[in-house]
Amino acid sequence: MASTQAAQGAPVLVASNRGPVSYEVREDGSLHARRGGGGLVSGLSAIGPDAGALWVCSALGDGDREAVRRGVGEAGVRMLDIPADVHSDAYNGIANSVLWFVHHMLYQTPLEPVFDAEFRRQWASYETYNRAFAEALAQEAAEGAAVVVQDYHLTLVPGMLRELRPDLRIGHFSHTPWAPPEYFRMLPDDIAAQVLRGMLGADRLGFLTHRWADAFTACATEFAGGLGGTRVGVHGLGADADFLRKRAHEADVEERMAALRAEIGAGPDGSPRRAVVRVDRTELSKNIVRGLLAYRQLLDDHPEWRERVVHLAFAYPSRQDLAVYRDYMADVRRVAEEINSRYGTPGWTPVVLHLKDDFARSLAAYRLADVALVNPIRDGMNLVAKEVPVVSDEGCVLVLSREAGAYEELREDAIAVNPYDVVETARALRSALTMQDGERAERTKRLAAAATALPPAQWFLEQLHALGDQPS
Ligand code: G6P
Repeated sequence: MASTQAAQGAPVLVASNRGPVSYEVREDGSLHARRGGGGLVSGLSAIGPDAGALWVCSALGDGDREAVRRGVGEAGVRMLDIPADVHSDAYNGIANSVLWFVHHMLYQTPLEPVFDAEFRRQWASYETYNRAFAEALAQEAAEGAAVVVQDYHLTLVPGMLRELRPDLRIGHFSHTPWAPPEYFRMLPDDIAAQVLRGMLGADRLGFLTHRWADAFTACATEFAGGLGGTRVGVHGLGADADFLRKRAHEADVEERMAALRAEIGAGPDGSPRRAVVRVDRTELSKNIVRGLLAYRQLLDDHPEWRERVVHLAFAYPSRQDLAVYRDYMADVRRVAEEINSRYGTPGWTPVVLHLKDDFARSLAAYRLADVALVNPIRDGMNLVAKEVPVVSDEGCVLVLSREAGAYEELREDAIAVNPYDVVETARALRSALTMQDGERAERTKRLAAAATALPPAQWFLEQLHALGDQPS
């Protein structure tokens, strides 16, 4: 019974699709745990090791499922072994192919959605998946506990959990943008209503910027008759300066800096070439292809920069079960190769493309970058824009899309671009490359201060406090 378990349950719970740890089965059959970093992990550790907080997440691969079966796990983490086909429908089919596309406004001809019988079947899995989370949370939560549900994978959980456990204080936090009403209404009416009802089951909804919070409020007003008793708040997740600065000076990062310096090389006058850096998941919303086209435009318009600049583009694989992501990765590779074959010389590779995820190499590139290109067509926040200025060695100019959530906080000291405008982005790259050292350093300092205004631990605690005092 929930009430008996509730007496000894967790006082604070987090729920998300991807958890803080993942497992892989080694050749000898042993299980190897890999701990992820990131805001929520440090946020949870900030409430103290003895607080009894619990993180409910999904088993994501064979290794995770095996760990659940063997009863292996970390203290404070409960992985749900949701059947693989249900998870795939919910995660690939609904969350990443429909809700992600709606909130990032990625549908365009001929990619517009077709809400057919297959969609309805997948939607039923999304409901099952959300219910599995709601039931696990209901079972694990202490009387009056605070539960913070994360992201678009779990929009139905707050409403479902409210019915199971009216005593709980329920929050939901969106790490994505929220679609404006004219776009959100693309969803079938009953599905749109269900998503809003699910979200409005929370006491409080958190968003990364006012823009996304306002869009949600507009959708609730237009399609659900208002917010009801649900409060809406904004918490602009910042970079984790302590972690990043320490990690960026470890030996493996230094090694990768040496390797990158060799790839960047020196220009005709013998001085090191300038580095324009980007680091992304290979994700349609990140706008990597237009970024490459802007760089090509720069080389077209300003031959004086040929041989003197290198574009380090790190495009890490993401959601490769989806054909549209695989195709996008192929496009990125093709455009990079086109630029290299058109402009490259025996001693100069204009675009250095790395496709294998390597956090140490990302940090090395952050430290070396002269210019960081962050040009998403729409992005909840974009933490790369916040991380680069924090670890940059000599100062780095940030070319930033006005459609990234981070723009709200960083606009003063970044060079803003319309992400669709390749010519303007090329101009911004040139201004960035020619900025005086002093101005670049000053701007980087101010960007770093703005980027760390709300560190992850504080970001999480703010949400808890906003939900009300913790139970005694
Ligand atoms: C975005 C989402 C997160 C998600 C991440 C990586 O930042 O807001 O919820 O975890 O992308 O995507 P993935 O599908 O690999 O979890």
